[in-house]
Amino acid sequence: MPAVTRSRPASRPVPPWPSDSRAASTASVARLTPFGVQPPKPSSEGFFFWGAAFDQGQPEGPMSCLKPWVSFPILSEGVTISYSECHRFTHQNNLETHAMTQYHAAHPIVPRERLDFHLGDADIPKYWFGGDAYKTRLFDALSLIFPPGEKFFMTCVRDYRDQITDPKLLDEIKGFNRQEAQHSMVHNQYNDRLRTQGIDVDRLMGWLEDLLFNKYRNKRSRAYTLAITCGLEHFTSIGAHSLFDKRDVLKEADPRVRAMYAWHAIEEVEHKGVAYDVMIDYAKVGNFTRILAMLETSLIFPIVIHHFCDELLKADGFSWWERRKMHVKGFWWAFKPGGLVAPMIKAYFPYYRMDFHPWQETDQPGYDEWLAGFNKNRDPIEASEHMRALLGAVAR
Ligand SMILES: [Fe+2]
Ligand SMILES: [Fe+2]
Repeated sequence: MPAVTRSRPASRPVPPWPSDSRAASTASVARLTPFGVQPPKPSSEGFFFWGAAFDQGQPEGPMSCLKPWVSFPILSEGVTISYSECHRFTHQNNLETHAMTQYHAAHPIVPRERLDFHLGDADIPKYWFGGDAYKTRLFDALSLIFPPGEKFFMTCVRDYRDQITDPKLLDEIKGFNRQEAQHSMVHNQYNDRLRTQGIDVDRLMGWLEDLLFNKYRNKRSRAYTLAITCGLEHFTSIGAHSLFDKRDVLKEADPRVRAMYAWHAIEEVEHKGVAYDVMIDYAKVGNFTRILAMLETSLIFPIVIHHFCDELLKADGFSWWERRKMHVKGFWWAFKPGGLVAPMIKAYFPYYRMDFHPWQETDQPGYDEWLAGFNKNRDPIEASEHMRALLGAVAR
């Protein structure tokens, strides 16, 4: 990446964006479009520099705009516009809006419907994760969390649906909704298994729905709940790093349940930037709110998983003391160096960067392998096993 001078510009008023946008030449726009490929070098004519919005104290400063460091002096030296102005400019001129977005989805959003995971099979053991009650119930807790959680995600994105005119983003939202709806459907199929094991699925999911829709949606702003959604979407997408790891952390799991989580993780990777684009470009959530929501998400999400896991183990008849021991052992399994969570940590922290965008991360281990397996027969179990075999071969 070329070195970028982030020098403080001379103090001067920022000229208003001209009403006659034709003043911006095609050549200028053409020089904007490579933005998604690589940052242009600062030039002597002041074509491009970073940090101007911050330094000049523009309203869209770092606390209110994700990309405060992006300025586009596209008319002449010293004429700067913010990211959102630039975005609006592309709309006004019928230009390709997403040429303005710094990062693009690495994979298309493909809703895969009517998949059969054979979750109704009677021979799936109650403790399908190698006979281990804690590991099984930890993932079962996730399965219970997903249907109310995904309903929350879709609702929070839908809040801004009427404001969106960009056909590409509208298309992505459609794909996002279809994928999330499928995830909920399949997890509900799985959760029916939990019902047969005596778990009060409706009580647990009702509790979470109350938390999300009454406590959050009724008490926080729409923008903040969308920021919470984006924080949770970050978690669901980086989960793929653990599941598609060459150490094969789910090797002891039943292949049918393992395939369900693998498919879900793949689609989370595909749509990980959709809610984020809505949050930045339409809800106008700035870095302060975005990061605050992520901090809250990082606290609440593990607490909810732990609570659900504990409830499941309690329903299984484990005593309070037995459950404490299981949690301590399970915590070590998950968080020890090289444990379940380890591959996610590196992908988690970039969210706190001022210039973060989910599409920045394009390299997803296991994605291509899973897709190659899936494309053979549209069988998600075959896809999951194919991916494991190839990643395992790499590891050996
Ligand atoms: Fe999902
Ligand atoms: Fe998602």
